[in-house]
Amino acid sequence: MKNLIKAFILLGMTSMYWACQPSGEGAFEPVTVKSPSETLELNFFLSESGRPGYMLYLKNQVVIDSSFLGLEFKNSAPLMENFEVLTVDIEGISETWERKWGETREVKNDYKHLKVSLKEKTADARLLNLSFKLYDDGLGFRYEAPEQNGLGEVEIMDEKTEFKLTGDHMSWWIPGDWEIYEHLYTKSLVSEVDAGAKRNNEFLAQTYIPDPDAVNTPYTMKTEDGIHISIHEANLTDYAGMTLHIDKENLTLSSALVAWEDGTKVKAKTPFVSPWRTIQVSPNAGGLIESNLIVNLNEPNKLDDLSYIEPMKYVGIWWEMHLGVSSWGMEGGKHGATTENAKRYIDFAAENGFGGVLIEGWNTGWEQWVGDEREGIFDWQTPYPDFDIDEVVAYGKEKDVQIIGHHETSGDVGNYDAMVEDAMAFYNEKGIHAVKTGYVGTLIPPTHYHHGQWMVNHYRKVVEVAAKNKIMVNAHEPIKATGIRRTYPNMIAREGLRGQEFNAWSDGNPPEHTLIIPFTRMLGGPIDFTPGIFNLKLSKLTGKVGMHEDRDTMFESEESYKPDNQVSTTLAKQLALYVVLYSPIQMAADLPQHYEGHPAFQFIRDVVVNWETSKIINGEVGEYITTVRKDRDSDDWFLGSITNIEPRDFEIALDFLDEGKAYQAIVYKDGADAHWDDNPQSYEIEEMEVKKGDQLNIKLAPGGGQAIYFKAK
Ligand code: NOJ
Ligand code: CA
Repeated sequence: MKNLIKAFILLGMTSMYWACQPSGEGAFEPVTVKSPSETLELNFFLSESGRPGYMLYLKNQVVIDSSFLGLEFKNSAPLMENFEVLTVDIEGISETWERKWGETREVKNDYKHLKVSLKEKTADARLLNLSFKLYDDGLGFRYEAPEQNGLGEVEIMDEKTEFKLTGDHMSWWIPGDWEIYEHLYTKSLVSEVDAGAKRNNEFLAQTYIPDPDAVNTPYTMKTEDGIHISIHEANLTDYAGMTLHIDKENLTLSSALVAWEDGTKVKAKTPFVSPWRTIQVSPNAGGLIESNLIVNLNEPNKLDDLSYIEPMKYVGIWWEMHLGVSSWGMEGGKHGATTENAKRYIDFAAENGFGGVLIEGWNTGWEQWVGDEREGIFDWQTPYPDFDIDEVVAYGKEKDVQIIGHHETSGDVGNYDAMVEDAMAFYNEKGIHAVKTGYVGTLIPPTHYHHGQWMVNHYRKVVEVAAKNKIMVNAHEPIKATGIRRTYPNMIAREGLRGQEFNAWSDGNPPEHTLIIPFTRMLGGPIDFTPGIFNLKLSKLTGKVGMHEDRDTMFESEESYKPDNQVSTTLAKQLALYVVLYSPIQMAADLPQHYEGHPAFQFIRDVVVNWETSKIINGEVGEYITTVRKDRDSDDWFLGSITNIEPRDFEIALDFLDEGKAYQAIVYKDGADAHWDDNPQSYEIEEMEVKKGDQLNIKLAPGGGQAIYFKAK
């Protein structure tokens, strides 16, 4: 498969360089590189002062204007100016790689690679290499500091990477919080970003927004001409997470890294590389999602054994705690994770073909999991007396359902870091091959931030220790997704956004929230959003609560588990989220009794989680999106379409379906009178026969959605 084409050979380029740059005068002729299909063009240049810079074009139109690069150190001069170019090397790479799970089975990896080696013209004569990979859908570039005498151990105080915008674009942002990404997105012009206004969020267990003018990435923007740009990073390894500081006057973004306690950003030793700084560019919003830039900029799979890595749907002892029906700990006599309750969920999973059951609160320590007394409370191995882990795992095995373990750290990373090897080995011995991790609360030791270099390294260590123990990781309160799933396919999903749970206990996720996520957070990678709440007003059940209850009585109660909370979507929109929000593990998040006997539950039973291919049919950030995906193991297709508070009416051509096949379309749509707030439970199921090329009308209610299962006949 691998087909390496050397497009330009070193010789040609260097001769151009020597011709253009008489030594010492610094007149370096800019280098231009075009992406494989010539969609994007990159310009690399040196300023008069010898500072490296770049420009990016989409079909002759500037997308990123002249932007400069550089690094600042603690105890040595910055690597920033006075450079001369030693060599320029450009090669074209065209290859395809396959993955065990993903939005598509195959990933095309076609790019032009520009490598520039720089040397200071000063007495220090230090070296710095820059590497640019230009794709048709974006650019990635990084710093590569080679081993050298003048540069050994360094403390990076600042990375001076710029992204100069060409205008005051519309944008969708969360603040540059160093502790958490669980904020609502705000839509505003770049010049009107006000991250400082997002401080003091009462629903966050930890938050620190040092710069009122910084945002977290992926940061997605739309130009006046409709070009979509998203800036993020790929392969964040042994480095600090990057936020973007906005210079509002000059409309320039610059890298602002999360710091160590003493203000240092990154501790490194040559040779080292930075993460890739990425700029995704698309003439339409959907193109951002279809782009594989972020995974392509990561290293190939490093794991030998992938046998335990399985995409799956799962249920869990989880939502009931968020609703207050039960608790994580034993206080108050409402413990959720009992042997009996776990078996109830295993039965439910087995009956419906789900692969896993997440069990939170099975291990001791939860009485103090939030608050000031969180240090040393968990050992991640001692069960509560009413939970028999061996019995539960054995029962799961009998029913072909695996247990998903849980490592909530409550931010006590000092303790977890020391015990994680034992905690993972414990699960491995028990036959548990998936774990959800959690990092709620300010960190112990308090000298670190969730998104700093120390934590980036901790999160990576957990993925590696998990792999050693044949365990998949679903991280909550994680470091952002930067595509490391390519290298570590056991890094199956992560949260890293304001998920469904906020609907149970905060001011809630407004209808547009899930219309922004696909174009922002999801560009990083899979999301454990936990869709599928059917009981949208969180009503109390009036009848007997149990597995086989007559469900006619279920939504009759006016009373709510959480009177001040609700899920702000229609029921059909909850179904559509299984297709729109990508994850190889998808939870059926509601209580089993809310699904039992419910006709719409059939869609969650049918929907698959591993895809041959995926396409975005239409979409506008924050407004609407329609996604189709084809099952990896059959000819079946699935469609999810969702909207914000605006009702929509689309004609969709079923061009994506396989040629020459007849499909039974099972359509789950909003009822004629459905509305996310006034009438969210209203839905209809309709069946019809369709084929490639047919037209389909899709109507979405305010805050609504539609999910379709195209079953190949
Ligand atoms: C926060 C996680 O996001 C949530 O899913 C989990 O239930 C709690 N922490 C407890 O670990
Ligand atoms: Ca969370």
